[in-house]
Amino acid sequence: MSKVKDPKLAGNGEKELDWARGRMPMLASIRARFEKEKPLKGLSIGTCLHLEKKTGVLLETLKAGGANVFAASCNPLTTDDSVAAALAKNGINVFAWAGQSNEEYYANINSVLDGKPNAVIDDGCDQIFALHKNRRELLPNIRGGCEETTTGITRLKAMEKDGKLEFPVIAVNNAYSKYLFDNRFGTGQSTLDGIMRATNVLLAGKTVVVVGFGWCGRGIADRLRGLGANVVVVEISDRIRKGEPSGLHKALEALYSGYRVMDISSAAKVGDVFITATGCRNAIGSEHLKLMKSGAILANSGHFDNEIDKEYLAGQGKRREIKTNLEEFVMKDGRKLYLLSEGRLVNLSQPTGQGHPIEIMDGSFAIQALSLEYLLKNKLKHGVHDVPLEIDDKVAGMALESNGIRLPSLTKEQLDYLSSWEEGT
Ligand code: ADE
Repeated sequence: MSKVKDPKLAGNGEKELDWARGRMPMLASIRARFEKEKPLKGLSIGTCLHLEKKTGVLLETLKAGGANVFAASCNPLTTDDSVAAALAKNGINVFAWAGQSNEEYYANINSVLDGKPNAVIDDGCDQIFALHKNRRELLPNIRGGCEETTTGITRLKAMEKDGKLEFPVIAVNNAYSKYLFDNRFGTGQSTLDGIMRATNVLLAGKTVVVVGFGWCGRGIADRLRGLGANVVVVEISDRIRKGEPSGLHKALEALYSGYRVMDISSAAKVGDVFITATGCRNAIGSEHLKLMKSGAILANSGHFDNEIDKEYLAGQGKRREIKTNLEEFVMKDGRKLYLLSEGRLVNLSQPTGQGHPIEIMDGSFAIQALSLEYLLKNKLKHGVHDVPLEIDDKVAGMALESNGIRLPSLTKEQLDYLSSWEEGT
């Protein structure tokens, strides 16, 4: 039992899935092992992920491991309807379509939870939050979860701090093999891909403001530079997470990387295109929207649609839809501002956003599959856990191997050298 936009789209979805399957060697090898060993036999797995072709390959891998898989999308706009139809045909329980209302979105998460999951996989923590808030009767059944993204981990850590997280969750995002590549190279390429497909504008020569210089912002800025944009980086002075550099450090890194660095009010006056990647609300607020040039294009690459004050745009501006994922707001003073994908994830909003490149998601979802297996084989305490380093290294090694690269280990002599405190000779 599934609920998708149109089951007749399954044929197209199957071709999309096939294209991805052929380019995801890490998931293919995990799938082959899962088929033999059935580590998920008899378990129900609830997933709340951007439901596109690469996610489909992950879900098939879990099914091959013996799981009964239930899938909702973690964002109302990011389901590829043809892929959803194909997955439903192939025996995954899918509750997702592109363009869900807020009510439909939460109803679909509830339908996934009706599958009585033994474990969950989230991107953004909405399913885990729904479990703790509205479906507490299911908690005793849950052995744990995995979380894909920075925003989800931030929410989970807050739950943990308040003593409210009632099962173990593996922070997949925090694996080196995830954030160093997915957040940087994945977001860098997919964000610009989404903007270019929605607008068809030239980025070379434009002043493009990147708001937030975390791993995603770094990736976006790097790719923009490659395209010939004039990049301005915006940061704040605070430290968001303990153990990480503050906004001051990130701003300095951006400056030394050759970017112009400004506060958001200064940048608002000069930008042609704005891209938010902060994970925080109102990174571009009404006071900044008031300063922007007519014609400015606004896009968000952060998980939630609260980084750009779109309520202000809707309240002040006369709205016209130019096409899917491209809205014009004519402000009272005559300026025209353009918002992409309703301020939701520009790199995944269908049909202009396709998500990260396939090879990147092969790595990220390999960590998901292996972390889920680890979680189910080991009894972890309630709380947020790092991905074990063996899994992290294994995935980096597999990614290199899929590029034809194999690296040697240190020799015994070198190991001894590195562990000695005597004078180096
Ligand atoms: N495809 C599936 N999940 C994704 C994610 N979190 N980011 C980008 N592309 C994706």
